[in-house]
Amino acid sequence: MIMASRKTLQIVPSLLAADPARLGELVRLAAGAGAEWISVDVMDGHFVPNLSFGPEHVRMVKSEALFVDAHLMVANPAEAAPWFVEAGADLVTVHLEACRDARETLRGIRRLGARAGLAIKPRTPAEPLIELLGEMDLALVMTVEPGFGGSRFLEGMLPKIAAVRRAIDGRALDCWLQVDGGINLETVAAAAGAGADSLVAGSAVFGARDVAGAIRSLRDLAQSHFNSRKEQRPS
Ligand code: DX5
Repeated sequence: MIMASRKTLQIVPSLLAADPARLGELVRLAAGAGAEWISVDVMDGHFVPNLSFGPEHVRMVKSEALFVDAHLMVANPAEAAPWFVEAGADLVTVHLEACRDARETLRGIRRLGARAGLAIKPRTPAEPLIELLGEMDLALVMTVEPGFGGSRFLEGMLPKIAAVRRAIDGRALDCWLQVDGGINLETVAAAAGAGADSLVAGSAVFGARDVAGAIRSLRDLAQSHFNSRKEQRPS
């Protein structure tokens, strides 16, 4: 199984943007292009106005030996998280806005043996996420309003990304900083430069004619800007 390496920046193709008739083929194509993670966006029609994938999609992606990042955009994350861990998700991300007790939900995911992530929507400030950084393996700053692929990157999220990066580095936490939404060749540099080291890309990858080339271009661009950030502001 490919374990996510904490030391390399990840471009994470989002299954949401893949042609539903070719999911397995496109997952293999992404894996062949060096993607180590795949994001499975789970939507329940309540937390967001859309419906998407379930545990069986996670099981299918897992069968391709990739690191599976299940992003739960659901109204009942504490109840749903175990279903995705059981299906093979390596990391389960829940939304702060949907949690009755985010700390306990994150601890519950870790107790089941998966890595735990916490996401915040664009209108949610960084502070409540930063307070819980010690409880998570991944912090997700949404750069679009969740629910659909193909939305425009919200530049206004850059200060929030930078604030979470400062908090992670300041406490020397081993925690991914992920961004999701509108990541493409025009926006990936700003996101990585602000401190993201896990970048979810749907349309820019699976909407590209050359999926492998798109992943490589995004990763090269992101890596150079992430590195230059570290040189400018060594933690
Ligand atoms: C929003 C989804 C999307 C998806 C990526 O709820 O989470 O952000 O993963 O879609 P693109 O990369 O097309 O914006």
